[in-house]
Amino acid sequence: MKSLLADSSEELVLLSLQARSLDKLAEQKRSNKLLEDAIATYLNILQKNNVSDDLYLKTADRCINRMRFRGQHGQAVGVHKMLITRYPENPKYRNDLAVTYLMTGKVPLAKNILEETLKKWPSNGFALVHYGFVLKTSENNNKDGSRYMQEGIDTNEPGTMDARFLFHLGDAYNRIGQHSRAEKVYELGVKEKLFRSKYQRSLYNVDRLTARPWWTLQQTTYAKELKMFEERWKEVRDEGLSILQSHSKRSSFKDEVENLRDKGVWKQLELYARGQQITSNCKNAPVTCLLISQFPAAHSCRRGQAKFSVMHPNTHVWPHCGPTNCRLRAHLGLVVPPGTELRVGDEKRSWEEGKVFVFDDSFEHEVWHNGTSMRLVLIVDIWHPELTDHERRALPAI
Ligand code: OGA
Ligand code: MN
Repeated sequence: MKSLLADSSEELVLLSLQARSLDKLAEQKRSNKLLEDAIATYLNILQKNNVSDDLYLKTADRCINRMRFRGQHGQAVGVHKMLITRYPENPKYRNDLAVTYLMTGKVPLAKNILEETLKKWPSNGFALVHYGFVLKTSENNNKDGSRYMQEGIDTNEPGTMDARFLFHLGDAYNRIGQHSRAEKVYELGVKEKLFRSKYQRSLYNVDRLTARPWWTLQQTTYAKELKMFEERWKEVRDEGLSILQSHSKRSSFKDEVENLRDKGVWKQLELYARGQQITSNCKNAPVTCLLISQFPAAHSCRRGQAKFSVMHPNTHVWPHCGPTNCRLRAHLGLVVPPGTELRVGDEKRSWEEGKVFVFDDSFEHEVWHNGTSMRLVLIVDIWHPELTDHERRALPAI
């Protein structure tokens, strides 16, 4: 008889070979059953007693990776916790768990573990940026959020120089009135090639596309289609107004929920989203939706929407950037009182009833309504004209 110890190290070699081949085979055959077996085998290895650090870490890493792939985030949490127990002095495993929590929307749990980590390792850059990010994005705590994110970025640790952190750090500074700090953050983002320019800070980009804040109708190449909206603008306006004036339909206008408002009332009614018609809303705006349906670059725009947008007096929308440079945004003025303004990049413009203007909302823009009655516009997103047909079909929706 061999000794127990020798037996189990041989067993580990075999188990690890078995897990890896199941894993490979699962990928080749796209088999969930095989993948489950691989995951079970990885877990089996992690529960053995005399696993070397090298094998343990490689196994845990792949196991978490495969569990995430299968959407088994709860199970992945278990593996994270085993890593934390085995390596209590290494903050990396706590940070990895925080990321899994954030990926699955478990923000309070992420916040907890980040707090614990920072108690023990107050200058851990990864935990600092993520903690600041949570404070800013989930609690609107711009003061502390910016402090933690800045401290984290200043450590220069891997994982801290990330476009999302700079995006929200600059925004947090702006919202607490620290504009020159925001500028510096955006300049750093440009220098690090995380932003296309100080004003164009979208995160999902196709690099070669012409970037300009304001576009003439001619420049968009869609002048003919856009003119159709101008020709029939009164019908579009009346559809928007009749929804607003109907007690039962009014509630299909939804409050802006992206925390872009400084103050005021701003609601939108979606007609198209991610290239899909919202049929329940289009029923109440047939002409508007017909015009969109006759405009391929608009109705196929899976990186955008078409919507009515209503804004009440005394509203201010913080400077913000859309997610992608792949779309342009057409606005058709429908009800436009004096005192309403849109800044894109360096240039402010106002709407005109019955007129379309086009801007690229990946550039920083900001909206004011200092008038005395409500403003209504139609917003139609269109593919950037330089995208190929193939790109329009293949780019993932946003
Ligand atoms: C936008 C925007 C629109 C509005 O269209 O991207 O931020 O309704 N504002 O004023
Ligand atoms: Mn916007």
